[in-house]
Formats: sequence, structure tokens, C-alpha cells
Amino acid sequence: MVKIKNICCIGAGYVGGPTMAVLALKCPDIRVVVVDANAARIDAWNQDDLTQLPVYEPGLAEVVAEARGRNLFFSKDVDQGIREADMVFISVNTPTKTYGEGKGMAADLKWVELCARQIAAVATTSKIVVEKSTLPVRTAQAIKDILHNSQSKISFQVLSNPEFLAEGTAIQDLLRPDRVLIGGDQSPEGKVAIQALASIYAAWVPEEKILTTNLWSSELSKLTANAFLAQRVSSINSISELCEATGADVDDVAKAIGMDSRIGSKFLKASVGFGGSCFKKDILNLVYICRSYQLHEVADYWEQVIRINDHQTERFAKQIIKSLYNTVNGKKIAFLGWAFKKDTNDTRESAAIYVADYLLDECAHVVVYDPKVPKEKIYADLDFLGTRSSEENRKLVEVVDSAYAACADAAAVAILTEWDEFVVLDWNQIYSTMKQPATLFDGRNILNGEQLEKIGFRFQGIGKAAL
Ligand code: UDX
Ligand code: ADP
Repeated sequence: MVKIKNICCIGAGYVGGPTMAVLALKCPDIRVVVVDANAARIDAWNQDDLTQLPVYEPGLAEVVAEARGRNLFFSKDVDQGIREADMVFISVNTPTKTYGEGKGMAADLKWVELCARQIAAVATTSKIVVEKSTLPVRTAQAIKDILHNSQSKISFQVLSNPEFLAEGTAIQDLLRPDRVLIGGDQSPEGKVAIQALASIYAAWVPEEKILTTNLWSSELSKLTANAFLAQRVSSINSISELCEATGADVDDVAKAIGMDSRIGSKFLKASVGFGGSCFKKDILNLVYICRSYQLHEVADYWEQVIRINDHQTERFAKQIIKSLYNTVNGKKIAFLGWAFKKDTNDTRESAAIYVADYLLDECAHVVVYDPKVPKEKIYADLDFLGTRSSEENRKLVEVVDSAYAACADAAAVAILTEWDEFVVLDWNQIYSTMKQPATLFDGRNILNGEQLEKIGFRFQGIGKAAL
């Protein structure tokens, strides 16, 4: 059996960082080097102040504190990292293409391809190359082609080992995964590589939870898992609108259906819309792949999951406008939360960005508070949309450092992220500092509407009786 002693992970992001930290923690005999082309990101991983790591995840700082400098290293020298490793994880970003063929749908594999070329160029010994990033089915073929066409005579095995962690619970998900999936060639050499990776996970994951498949099943399973999860959120969100129209309560409906063991209770929380780096990107990617195989009905089916999500986010923004007498021009609207879910500082595809953009188009004055997202990130997210100039975004949007400051003098408060600290705010105090009538939109259904109405708020939850 091949025993791996040196691992290199290319990409020190939300997946690469936590994943390798836990691997290093659990396998003290393996040297793990995480490299990144972004030098500032590596510096941030190496700094002494563990509260300032580039990724915020509960429990991550503790894991980094134990493993960093022992067998976990963060380095800017990508070539050296690759050269010294027996196994190289590719954990770089694969955003949706913003140009050319497949624009707005297909995954941009530029960075993955660059990694493969760099591995081919600098490797002097044989390596197992592991796809950690979520990739379109059959990407491993492209990586294989690049590696095998390199000048060198050394051999490469390509594995797919998609990461199923969810942000905000990454450390728990990594320590106790539902399953670990490893796809590889079914040749004798491929099977040896699969076993080498499986034996690493076996240090802390029960054997029956380590699944091995061929490359294509593994790649497609990751896209499919995300599509199914997102579909559940869109399904309950679609029902939330019907609840508002009929007087049903979406939380009651979710509880009632979730107790059916065939349906299950998880992932049925109605919300302002799902965000995150994966769901939208992966479904668009799935839709694009289906269309490229001429499977238009299948593509239409999955595309609808995204349409419902866009609709849900827009619907939320429209409700705010409608309840403020159809104009928000010059009105202060407090946003509690900007991250795409609680317990992360990640804002990619967060519903908050789109709700803000919609309200800014109506000339609202948006004031944001998020416990973990820095001010510059909020402005960068809005600037990235390109709807208005950077100066205008800075003029119309204010970022403050407390929920109370955000809500003072506001005509309405909108909860965009379900941070625990919002549940325990002094809502009596907030009410007394707001413009009247004070309206509260709970985009995450974390607050008790009845109690808030008793204080005097006009309250609107998702899938609750309409205002
Ligand atoms: C997701 C998958 O869960 C994970 O397995 C995969 O590896 C990456 O994509 P992530 O995007 O980090 O993880 O978070 P997740 O917990 O899935 O939440 C995604 C979005 O859906 C968030 O915006 C969340 O608020 C929303 N959501 C989730 C709901 O609105 N309701 C729910 O019931 C669950
Ligand atoms: P994810 O959520 O998938 O981890 P991120 O965007 O957080 O995605 O992280 C991906 C990281 O990969 C970024 O820090 C980026 O700088 C890095 N990266 C992308 N391409 C390369 C490359 N060719 N070489 C080294 N690092 C790269």
C-alpha cells in the first residue's frame, strides 16, 4: 500500500483551509502544506491573531492553533509545495464563467487547468492529483490529458474527492462527515491511488462511510447533492408564498411534512433565498451540462430551482417597498446580516446583496450590520454587481458596527442572516428608536412574530400571514 507522507493543497480558501487543517490535525505524521497564489491570503493564515484568519468558522482557530507549525504549513511557494508532495489537492475556485461560450452558466475551469499545467511543469516525482473543488462531470479527463501530455515521464493518478462540508459547520462536518467520496480509475494503479487516499481518511472516518466509485460518479454526485439540497430550499420557499396567500404557516407545514421519514426534517427552513458559493453555480453548471448533451427537459427542470430562488429574493425586496407605502426613496432601512448564512464571513451569492441592490435602485438608504463581514467586503459585493458606481454605493449604503446603531431611526428592519445574536437583541429598545410605524421583516424566520407585534412592530415573516 502507498503511504502518503507529504500533501500539498493548492488553494487556501473556504474549502482548502479548513479541510487541510482538520486533515493535519488528525494525521500528525503527514506534512500538509497549503499554498495559494494570493500572498495576502497566506499571510492572513500565518498571522498570530487567530481571530483574524481569512475564513471564519466556529472551531477553526482551535484546530489551526494545534496543527499550524507542527505538520500544517501555509506557503506562498506553490512550485515547492507541489514538488515536495506525493499527493496534490486542487482546491481552487471554479466560479461561473463571465465571458464567452457558456457565459453565466458553465464553470470557469481556468484556475483548475492552470493548476494541472503547473503540476505537470514542476513535478519531478510521481503524484496522486486529487480534485477537491466542485467540478463539472468529466473534468478529470481534462486534468489527465494535461498531466499525461507533459514532457516528463513521471506518472500521475487523478482522483475525485469532492468536499461536502457546509460553511458555518465546516469543522464538525469535516470531523464527522456523513460520508467521504473517492472516485478514481478502475485500473490497478487507480485502485492503489484510491486506497492511498482512503487510508488517510480512515484515521478518523469509519470505514463504512468511505465510498469509492469511478471518477464520473464521484464528480456527478457532488453536483447532484447540491442540486437536491437547493431544490429542497426552493420547494419550501415556493410553498412559503402560498402560505402567505392562504393563511397557512410555512414553519407548521415544514414540521408536518418533515416528520414523514421519507421526507425528513432537515433543509426545510424557508428563507429570503439560498446563497453561498455552491448552489447557484453548481445548478447552472448542471443545467449547462444537460443542455450540452441536448437534455433540454432535464435542464429546464433544474433551472426552475434557481428561478424560484431569484423570485423569493425579489419578492422579499418588493414586500419591503410595498409595506413602506410603495416608496423607500430616502428611507433608512436596516439590514441585520450580510453573510449568506450564520457562522461564516462568506458573502458569495448572499441574498442580502440582491435585496440591497433592488432597494438601492429605489433610492433607499441601506444601513448594514453583520458581526463578521468587514465593511469593505460589503462595498465590494455591491460594486461587483456593476449596477451603480462605487461612489454611489458608498453614498447610499452605510456599514455600522452594532445592530442597535443600524436600527436607530430606520423605517424598517430586515433580517437577512440568521445570526444567533439577532434573536436576543433588546427589541423593545430597538422599537423605541425607530421611525413609526416600525416594520420588521424576518427573512430567516428566527424571531417570534407575536411577541414583536405586542411590542408594536408591524411584523412580516417568510410564509407567515401577510401584513
Ligand atoms: C452547501 C452544501 O450544504 C454542502 O454540502 C456543499 O459542500 C456546499 O454547498 P453551503 O453553501 O456552505 O453548503 O451552506 P448550506 O448550509 O448548504 O446553505 C446554503 C444556503 O441555503 C444558505 O444561504 C442557507 O441559508 C440556505 N438554506 C439552507 C435555507 O435557506 N434553508 C434551509 O433549510 C437550508
Ligand atoms: P473555495 O470556497 O472553493 O475554497 P475560494 O475562492 O475561497 O474557494 O478559494 C480558492 C483559492 O484558490 C483562492 O484563495 C485563490 O487565490 C486560489 N487559487 C486559484 N487559482 C490558483 C492557482 N492557480 N494557484 C494557486 N492558488 C490558486
